[in-house]
Amino acid sequence: MVRAPGQRRAPRLRPAHSLVVTPAVVAHRGASGYRPEHTLEAYRTAIRMGVDDIELDLVCTADGVLLARHDVELSLTTDVADHREYADRHRTLTIDGVEQRGWFVTDFTHAEVKRLTARERRPAARPHSAAHDGRYGVPTLNEVLAMVEAESVRRGRMVGVMLELKHASWFDSIGLGLAEPLLRDLARHGVDHARSRVSVMSFEPTILRTLAGCAKVPLIQLLDAGSVPADFVAANDPRTYADLVTPAGLAWIERYADGLGVHVDLVLARTPGGMLGEPTSLVRDAHAEWLTVHTWTLRAENATLPVDLRIGADPHTHGDLPGLARRLLDAGVDGLITDHPDLVFPALSERT
Ligand code: G3P
Ligand code: CA
Repeated sequence: MVRAPGQRRAPRLRPAHSLVVTPAVVAHRGASGYRPEHTLEAYRTAIRMGVDDIELDLVCTADGVLLARHDVELSLTTDVADHREYADRHRTLTIDGVEQRGWFVTDFTHAEVKRLTARERRPAARPHSAAHDGRYGVPTLNEVLAMVEAESVRRGRMVGVMLELKHASWFDSIGLGLAEPLLRDLARHGVDHARSRVSVMSFEPTILRTLAGCAKVPLIQLLDAGSVPADFVAANDPRTYADLVTPAGLAWIERYADGLGVHVDLVLARTPGGMLGEPTSLVRDAHAEWLTVHTWTLRAENATLPVDLRIGADPHTHGDLPGLARRLLDAGVDGLITDHPDLVFPALSERT
């Protein structure tokens, strides 16, 4: 939002600072197009490829340890279903209003999760990655931060980490708040400061507003295309993500966050036929508030791409991902969060 001369606004919850690298290539769940997601090997593969940052989802065990997993339910990305000793943990659980069946991380201690190995989530689309099933464990946040520190020193460049807190208000509701173990791990690695290459993201404004009062790392508000923040639903707040992408919504976000992480469709609206549309005003509006804009998730497989960027009819073969990256860079985004970093770099290097 462009401020009128002399216009006053509500004070920020903390001093503003900016993220370091832009435009950045960020490995989504590691180089998850090539290795089972959220494994040290997926992150290391991405770092070898030269990414600026890795993206990490966090959930919490029964004994309060933060783990790198996208889902609270474990069977889609681990071998938990093969462990007979855990068969009695199979149950139904409702998380953010969605009923699920399976094995839930909140029913396991950290030591118990350490007996599991990671699996490829999309074996049909990513058989080369699935060939790595069973080779790697489920890392803790502490282990990932230690690995990134070591890789940064070894390679002589700082690798960034974008942490996403999953289901924050739901974890809070069962007595496993994410803020405390997060702050503990950040402090342990000395990375909770304003120029940190570690940033914290969430789809839920509430946890970010809490962190704005007690953490110094950059904070990023995630925005989905459609749907509603789960913490707003729990608090009977009628606002939706569509309300938050308006200039007034962005001005509100700017009071506690430093950047946005947005669905690709919010930057390049899709046509009714599923083709890539024209840029929206979101990047311009966000930059007017000094909010950075990272966009997700860039995947190479045809089925995930706009219709006009698909190559051939097979949903699993790769389409024109560099073409999508180019369009997003043309629209002015500050970061590309991708499962296939190597396929996105050419779009960036063309510009330099
Ligand atoms: O970086 C944000 C993006 O990861 C959000 O989507 O579901 O992959 O966590 P998701
Ligand atoms: Ca994520």
